Amino acid sequence: MTSLLDAGETRHAIGSHQSASVKSHTGLTPPEIIDALGIFDLDPCACPPPRPWATARVHWTREGGPLRRAWPAEARVWLNPPFGPKRAVAAFMARMADHGRGTALLFARTETEVFFETVWSRASGMLFLQGRPHFHHQDGRRAKANSGAPVVLISYGSADAGRLKGSGLAGRYVSL
Ligand SMILES: C[S@@+](CC[C@H](N)C(=O)[O-])C[C@H]1O[C@@H](n2cnc3c(N)ncnc32)[C@H](O)[C@@H]1O
Repeated sequence: MTSLLDAGETRHAIGSHQSASVKSHTGLTPPEIIDALGIFDLDPCACPPPRPWATARVHWTREGGPLRRAWPAEARVWLNPPFGPKRAVAAFMARMADHGRGTALLFARTETEVFFETVWSRASGMLFLQGRPHFHHQDGRRAKANSGAPVVLISYGSADAGRLKGSGLAGRYVSL
């Protein structure tokens, strides 16, 4: 079972005991999530162009080495990290927590080291989505299968906590 991986990779992902999976390895965020949160300033884990819709005003892809670059302090960041290598998720989430402004999407593995180090102790809020979202293929098509595991949106900073809480997305908001 694969889910939310980089294009071309086939690794077993979290939620492998779950009942459904995304066959695409790109796992684009459903556009209704971005619409509900408002366009972001920077997506440091953008898919390569052409992309079916914008997640942010500025998109950085892996070729640009987004972890080697400084993230502009004022930028409201959207982060849906590559869910293949655990180290990549940890590195991007650590950078997001340090940045402190924006919203991230993760599987709701609330017991993990990454969650404890970068979410529970550092985020401003969480929205546990009701049901499992369907991610999208690079060409914009909605995946037939759902995410295969529960998903949580995580805000950093008070402004994004407010946006998340008021987003209207179905789920349960928890203030941190
Ligand atoms: C789960 S997708 C999210 C795409 C997009 N940000 C969105 O929310 O729809 C993760 C993206 O990260 C990109 N990626 C993979 N490894 C990366 C890396 N080391 N640095 C930056 N981006 C990477 C992949 O190309 C993939 O498009």
